Amino acid sequence: MKDSFPIEKFKTVKTPFYYYDTDLLRKTLDKIKSETDKYGNYHVHYAIKANANRKILRIISAAGFGADCVSGGEIKACLDAGFPADKIVFAGVGKSDWDINLGLDAGIDYFNVESIPELEIINQLAGEKDKVARVSFRINPNVGAHTHANITTGLAENKFGIAMSDMEKVIEIAASLQHIEFVGLHFHIGSQILEMEDFMVLCNRINELQAQLERRHIQVQNINVGGGLGIDYQHPNEVPLPNFEDYFQTYRKRLNLRPDQQLHFELGRSVVGQCGSLITNVLYVKQATYKQFVIVDAGMTDLIRPALYQAFHYIENLSSNETKETYDVVGPICESSDVFVKAFGLNRCHRGDILALRSAGAYGEAMSSGYNCRELPKGYTTEDLA
Ligand code: LLP
Repeated sequence: MKDSFPIEKFKTVKTPFYYYDTDLLRKTLDKIKSETDKYGNYHVHYAIKANANRKILRIISAAGFGADCVSGGEIKACLDAGFPADKIVFAGVGKSDWDINLGLDAGIDYFNVESIPELEIINQLAGEKDKVARVSFRINPNVGAHTHANITTGLAENKFGIAMSDMEKVIEIAASLQHIEFVGLHFHIGSQILEMEDFMVLCNRINELQAQLERRHIQVQNINVGGGLGIDYQHPNEVPLPNFEDYFQTYRKRLNLRPDQQLHFELGRSVVGQCGSLITNVLYVKQATYKQFVIVDAGMTDLIRPALYQAFHYIENLSSNETKETYDVVGPICESSDVFVKAFGLNRCHRGDILALRSAGAYGEAMSSGYNCRELPKGYTTEDLA
């Protein structure tokens, strides 16, 4: 699959940089649309935290998706990229007054509220503007997911959401507040989830909670199940599209939606993950006592996932077809954790070779930093390098 990269163009661009295969992005968006169109009441909000590159956002908004934001800055980026305000939802445990006011002024669809104090502040700020804020409550379903501990969010011990035992109380409080309209329930159990079982457990929990509310004659307009669908980091070439069919079908089969109820999703990684690669240059090949290091010009500042979550990104040497050798691929940052992969087979490397770190479209560029006074990596699309 190396041939699918515009390697000659890569040689003319300063590394490291992100490369986005927009054909794959469009294919992914088409697949999501064709799967959700089967159901009629499914709405996908792209979780912009995964990748807020302007060109990527424009493609996703042009395809008709909504957006899931976690800061006022993200709401602004979405509005700039053409997402309609009434398709924007806004989550986060620590929304500042500035964030909330921005959401109110823009007229976003609803706030995913994570605590009673937050609800009261939204009511107050909406009151000052003589507005009514639509809110959905993020309920912590106490459901574990089979993923990395740092990216599970739905356990009682996590900081996210309102405890299930407080759900009725918070809905009652909302009914008493003049500038609040309660519109739904929100859940999110974690990220990079590949086992449909985990989503089934969430569905069962939501079914129980809905039944509990109905006993008290409480109606919910929409259910938002968050994101979390994982991608195949081991096989980016063989499995470029996540399993959207099973994912959406799991919710159809397991979640008891009421007539007219709308189902909202907040997908991030599964939308943009496979279309992005971090492109980097080999600076040095260093023979150490027990192993060989390939030292590249990208570091943990450009892609922090391996250092932060021990995440694996498949790497290809785009410049060489020589026999494979075993290397540790490391960056130039002054941190021992600045390692992309250990003992990995790559076609024999030489100074100047171009490597692609695959499946880096989600939480790659978006999480880059300027540590060590480094420049932030730029992002280029297929069109940019045509
Ligand atoms: N909705 C909420 C409320 C979330 O917190 C998240 C992700 C999403 C949706 C989107 O989840 P996705 O579909 O992308 O799994 N930086 C980590 C991932 C952090 C995810 C945070 N929340 C990583 O690089 O693996």
